[in-house]
Amino acid sequence: MEKIKVKNTFVEIDGDEMTRIVWKMLKERMLDPFLDYHAEYYDLGLLNREATGDQVTADAAHAIRKHGVGVKCATITPNDQRMTEYKLTQCWKSPNATLRGILDGTVFRKPIMVSNIKPAVRTWKKPITVGRHAYGDVYKNQEMKIPGPGRAEIVFTPANGEPVRGTIHEFTGPGIIQGMHNTEKSIRSFARACMNYALAEKTDLWFSTKDTISKTYDGFFKAVFDEEFANFKEGFEKAGIKYYYTLIDALVASIVKSEGGMLWACKNYDGDVMSDLVASAYGSLAMMTSVLVSPEGHFEYEAAHGTVTDQYYQHLKGEETSTNSIALIYAWTGCLRKRGEMDGTPEVVAFADKLEAATRETIESGTMTGDLIGIVDPNPANRRVNTEEFIDAVTENLVRKL
Ligand SMILES: NC(=O)c1ccc[n+]([C@@H]2O[C@H](COP(=O)([O-])OP(=O)(O)OC[C@H]3O[C@@H](n4cnc5c(N)ncnc54)[C@H](O)[C@@H]3O)[C@@H](O)[C@H]2O)c1
Repeated sequence: MEKIKVKNTFVEIDGDEMTRIVWKMLKERMLDPFLDYHAEYYDLGLLNREATGDQVTADAAHAIRKHGVGVKCATITPNDQRMTEYKLTQCWKSPNATLRGILDGTVFRKPIMVSNIKPAVRTWKKPITVGRHAYGDVYKNQEMKIPGPGRAEIVFTPANGEPVRGTIHEFTGPGIIQGMHNTEKSIRSFARACMNYALAEKTDLWFSTKDTISKTYDGFFKAVFDEEFANFKEGFEKAGIKYYYTLIDALVASIVKSEGGMLWACKNYDGDVMSDLVASAYGSLAMMTSVLVSPEGHFEYEAAHGTVTDQYYQHLKGEETSTNSIALIYAWTGCLRKRGEMDGTPEVVAFADKLEAATRETIESGTMTGDLIGIVDPNPANRRVNTEEFIDAVTENLVRKL
């Protein structure tokens, strides 16, 4: 069979532990035999980040800006224990935080649905994507314990001007205070990234804050979204999709009665909480895709899960593993589909569609990894397979479709 040609270069970012092993298998078995592609390769395995003083992470991010699209394996974010394990000279920053910083991106997480795993919310028929604003608010705050009576104030001192003050509270006894911020630039980028993603996916966009209570802070988020939407209104109308703003409490109430299928744009804390709620309600973290989208329209696809360290240690001991490769496969199909769309090569898009269908059908026919056995609809056909067997079963299904 002649290989399908991927016209332009994309960026491939390798990672760590079990996902690095699965990554290699996926390429060797279900991509390289069928595709003729050129990937600019960056090794973000922790050892290479150490060897390059983490320069490789910044280089990878700039390569995505250059080529427009990339695919990333899961990577270790070092902590004290990893410093010892990998003999690191520094506790390198989270690679995802570096990539997000350079691409100024927003992260969208979307569940992969199969017919024999039912969401915990009965009405959900289509995937709900959560778009999380990953900057500021409570994650970059200043907090203080108040020991006793006194006045707590909020003060802004302009670069050239007199301080402006507001009273937070007149304390009559001990308490706590917190100060947080966001920037107009970051909120605008977030709004644009959400609107670009909604257009690309042809999905409605829902946005929620609590602007009735937080009139200035949340009110500013709403105002920026409204202003940015003015530039997208026509595009949304053409695509037949809607932008819908409401209070977060009203939105939560509607979303659990909806059939899903929307992009839910969330402020930082809401997104942190709601993306885990949505992941769990749809079944498993191993079935969540994640894509980082920049305001200029650069795309970086990955799985939402980590490097599956526990199974990696089993693998090192020579024990059998059963790692679910679905979200990693979808990271590749997301990247290939986007490359195909950008290049105007429908045969590449069709390959991505076929690979996703082959993956879903493998599970729907009862062949799956251990993490899904407990949540799938009971059926005598269900069987647990190991990491390699699952990849081979998907590849067999793919070959039948090509
Ligand atoms: N995007 C990323 O690169 C990313 C995200 C999260 C964590 N991490 C890194 O991954 C490492 C491990 O972190 P963790 O254990 O908290 O998260 P993890 O997602 O790797 O694992 C959490 C649990 O879910 C299970 N699990 C996750 N994905 C699975 C899959 N595909 N198949 C079967 N089981 C799966 C694991 O076995 C584990 O029990 C850490 O070093 C962390 O820094 C990276």
